[in-house]
Amino acid sequence: MALKQPGVGIAITGCGSAAPTAFLDNQQLSQIVDTSDEWIATRTGIRQRRLAPPTQSLATLAAQAAQGAIAMAGLSPTDIDLILLATSTPDDLFGTACRVQAELGAARAVAFDLTAACSGFVFGLVTAAQFIHTGVYQNIVLIGADILSRWVDWSDRRTCVLFGDGAGAVVIQANGRDRLLGFELRSDGTQNHYLNLNYQPDPKHLTDDLEIGQGTFQPITMNGQEVYRFAARRVPEVIEKALFRANLSIEDVDWLLLHQANQRILDAVADRLNIPPEKVISNLAKYGNTSAASIPLALDEEVRQGKVQVGDTIVTSGFGAGLTWGAAVFQWGR
Ligand code: UT7
Repeated sequence: MALKQPGVGIAITGCGSAAPTAFLDNQQLSQIVDTSDEWIATRTGIRQRRLAPPTQSLATLAAQAAQGAIAMAGLSPTDIDLILLATSTPDDLFGTACRVQAELGAARAVAFDLTAACSGFVFGLVTAAQFIHTGVYQNIVLIGADILSRWVDWSDRRTCVLFGDGAGAVVIQANGRDRLLGFELRSDGTQNHYLNLNYQPDPKHLTDDLEIGQGTFQPITMNGQEVYRFAARRVPEVIEKALFRANLSIEDVDWLLLHQANQRILDAVADRLNIPPEKVISNLAKYGNTSAASIPLALDEEVRQGKVQVGDTIVTSGFGAGLTWGAAVFQWGR
């Protein structure tokens, strides 16, 4: 806070999204695992999910979302100072943001990945804001993109019904008035084991007395009930904290924009906070849980449909693996 330059605030001035065209509905899924449209729809609200073909790169999906956001902001790629790519499913473990930079032709931008699972967009928003508040950068593209279908255990009905692929992006610009009104970020590594996409080393002897581990990442494992409990309890807390920091009350909120994990979590959080259902943004029926992409993907749909208007106050919250969770309150537009 001490470093914040007087008069340098942020505004979110553009958004975009992209999703693979192929989809799998609940009926089709019930031919892969022992489940039903009825179970999935009533327990999660999800009806279908988009799935990326083998040839789809995360970088291209992310770049498509970013192009939409840059165009809406009225900028060109060479105006961008920083590209932040929130993802847990990179094309390359060394990072995918630089490939996005190349695809966009954003030659001036520095680019790097940020990993915070389903909290990636909210963590990225706050990270981007710091670079602007300190006066370092003026134009930032934040992308949330994930292709979780590559890491789902398609024989595990407890997890494979939940996830889908997609990307969403926003442009964050320096602005006279600060439209990021408050935030709160949290992590608890003691609960890390509830949701993982773990690397499993395969021991390999290089010499008689020197062993290393070369292995692969294993499919997603999740204790759904514990993650559900965590989200229903912790998300309202961080939202209240972020609103307190913003000096706002629940009545000032126009839209509740949660990570799209489960309709029951959306309903429980809204209920706990006394936010009426018409203020709750939900598109998970069409996309499932797209991890870091879910919040900007839903935002983009609402903005392009004219529901979210310039000046609207949005409270957003991401939560998931880590465990990580966080909330931010912002006003859409300049
Ligand atoms: O983005 C990361 C954040 N992740 C989340 O937010 C996920 C949070 N958790 C959830 O959304 C929910 O816990 C789930 C949707 C994953 C599961 O819903 P649930 O109401 O907690 O179900 P459950 O795990 O308690 O399972 C209830 C029953 C079990 O059968 P029994 O033991 O009662 O006979 C499961 O075996 O439902 C069974 N079940 C299924 N049945 C049909 C679990 N998955 C399925 C399925 N189809 N896909």
